[in-house]
Order: sequence, then C-alpha cells, then structure tokens
Amino acid sequence: MSHGQVHFNTIAVHGAGKPDLTKVRPVSVPIYQSAEFVFDSAEHGEAVMSGKEPGFCYTRMGNPTSQEFERRMALLEGADDGVSFASGMAAIAATILSYCQPGDNLISSSPVYGGTFGLFKDLLPTLDIRIIYLPAETIHAELDRHVTPRTRLVYLETPANPTLDIVDLQETIKAAKRHNLKVAVDNTFATPCLQRPMSYGADVVMHSATKYICGHGDTIGGVAVANKGDIERLRIVAYKNLGGTIAPITAWLLARGLQTLPLRVERHCRNAQIVAEFLENHPKLDRVRYPGLKKCCGHDVAKKQMQGGFGGVIGIDVKGGLESCKKFQNSLKLCTLAVSLGSVETLVSHPASTTHLSYSEDDLKKVGMSRGFVRIAVGLEEPEDVIADLDQALKKA
Ligand SMILES: Cc1ncc(COP(=O)(O)O)c(C=O)c1O
Repeated sequence: MSHGQVHFNTIAVHGAGKPDLTKVRPVSVPIYQSAEFVFDSAEHGEAVMSGKEPGFCYTRMGNPTSQEFERRMALLEGADDGVSFASGMAAIAATILSYCQPGDNLISSSPVYGGTFGLFKDLLPTLDIRIIYLPAETIHAELDRHVTPRTRLVYLETPANPTLDIVDLQETIKAAKRHNLKVAVDNTFATPCLQRPMSYGADVVMHSATKYICGHGDTIGGVAVANKGDIERLRIVAYKNLGGTIAPITAWLLARGLQTLPLRVERHCRNAQIVAEFLENHPKLDRVRYPGLKKCCGHDVAKKQMQGGFGGVIGIDVKGGLESCKKFQNSLKLCTLAVSLGSVETLVSHPASTTHLSYSEDDLKKVGMSRGFVRIAVGLEEPEDVIADLDQALKKA
C-alpha cells in the first residue's frame, strides 16, 4: 500500500499492510495482542469460526499466546488440553456449569476457598444446583452414602484453603468413579509440581493461576485442563457462553511463570517446612497446621499423594482468639499483610475476615476455623528472617 494510492487516514489505520511474520522466530512466546485474526478467504472464515478448521478468529475464543499457556499447563498436569480464564473463579464457575444443570447436585469436599464457597452458597442455588458438603478428610469414605441420581460432579480442593485439610485423591476418585461421576480438582495449593490429580482419574483440574503459577503477585488468571471428551464442552461454556477469557498479556506472564514453577515451588516447600517446624511448639499458638508436620492429621495422605513437598501455606491458631491475632498481624514488620498466596513475598491474612467472609460463624465452626486462625503463605525470603518476624510479632500477641 503506497502513499500514492490511499489517503492519510487510511495509512494511519493500515500502515504498510499486515506484517509478514513467517520468518520471525522469537525464543519466547510472543504476546499476540490482537482481538481479531485475519481470514484467508470468506470460506476460511466460516471454517475457522465453525471449528471445522483449526485457527484463530477472535481472542475471546482462543489466542496463540493463551493457547501456548494452556498447552504447557496441560502437559504439566498430564491432560490433553486446557482452557484459560481471566481468574481462578472464572475457571471454577465454567467447570461447574459445564457439568451441572438445574436439579443436579454436586458433592464438595469441605472446606473450600471462600470465593468458591460464595459461588456455591449464592449463585448455584439460584440455578437450582445443590451442594452436599463432606469433610475433606472423610469424603472418600462417606461419598457412597450421599450420591443421588442427580449427583453430577464431585468437587475437591486439596490442600484446602485455608485449613490445609487433605482429601485422599486416589480413594475419593475411586469412589466417585464407582458411580460414574465426574471429578473436578482445585490444584491451586499443590500445583502440578507436587500433585497430579489426573493421574488418579480426575476429569478436570483447575487453578487459580494468580497464585504459584504466576508466582509474583502481579496478575490474576485461571486455567482448567481436561482430556478429550470433557475439554470441548468446557471450551464452549468458557469461550462462547460465559466469556471470562484470559488477556494475552496475562497468558504470557503465566506461561513465563511456568518456566520457573518447579524451582519456586521447591523453595516455597522448603521454607514453609522450616517455618512450620519452628512454629510447631510456639507457646503463643494453640495449633499449627501444615501437611508436612508429622502431627498434622492429613500428613500420611499428603505424603502418599504429594511428591517433593507439602506446599507453601501454613495455618496457625493464635492463643487468645481474635484480639491476640489482630495484635500479631499488626506487629509484623517483614511479612506482608495481604490476601493471596504463592507470591515471592510472605503474605499473612486472617481468612475469617477477608478471603472467607462468605463463611458464617456457624460455617466457620463446622470447618474448625477459630477466630484466631491466621494463614501464612511463606514466600522466597530467607526462612530465618521470616521466623524472626513471626516470632517478634507473636511475642506481642
Ligand atoms: C484454592 C483457590 N481456588 C480458587 C481461587 C480463586 O482464584 P482467583 O482469585 O484467581 O479468582 C483461590 C483464590 O484465592 C484459591 O485460593
């Protein structure tokens, strides 16, 4: 397109025409920051949009950068393919809506992340989808008795946010499969570095990629992986119906995060184990929850199904309840008072008044969360420094 043939305004829009990128071979996956993709012909457009031919048409329905992230995630989890989302909650909502219809019910391990609990409590009942909760540690043994003809899905979160309760994946999935039920697992806390639910027969594995996958606390994203037979419907619900698709820049950040995930997770686990062992006998604490501690009730199952460590999150019950636990939080100097986890920094939060606000007083009691319960997401600092900060703050509690 030369200056001679078209006007200034047209040049502003088209420049010298579409760049030819066929000879460009970047080492890192590029960010395809484009909402639309060019069709070769009218026929090609129809073939791509209708799914008869592979290709890209519109970023809500797929983008090369997002696809790269999805494929890497699927490889790490041992699934055929993935679907990426604007957040972990979007991944969870789309997964559930791809299986459950009005009149159905799902059986969920308890507890679950507060946002998930809110979805189960507020939105799903309005769609006439009912939730049956079973405790994480006994769901494998109790499942049989609670399945009804309208049970469609078993929903599992392990280690559970925030109590670190452990679901026996092998036994629970075996029980679900006896009833031909679909199983979805939120693998956010473990990551595929430590635990691969697909290897036990899970149908979908979901992540808040905001956490360890991103790893730096600077973006929000989600992903779900599944095998052929499940991924197609999930993709339609996610991309065509709900539309909570990931942005290409976010997918790029998450794909980059995956490259260092094993290194970071190994260090998060090592640091959390050291911090948990220090806290285990602390006089200011009633209880320390970390699956890597032998005294922790889920330890044996966690050891069986988590390879290479027990994650980066610790739960503590501060003696003296809410008032002491506020003093503890307000006395921290190095650790950051903030929600979320999986970041390079150690993040400390009080779930009952933040991430798990959707839990009523009664709900909190049922899952054994005291008012003095605090979540510590151990970061990548030197653990000695984290311990020193926690210790000085606990002394003031
Ligand atoms: C276990 C778990 N699942 C899902 C979510 C939701 O993810 P997002 O905040 O990315 O929507 C969170 C967020 O904290 C979480 O901890």
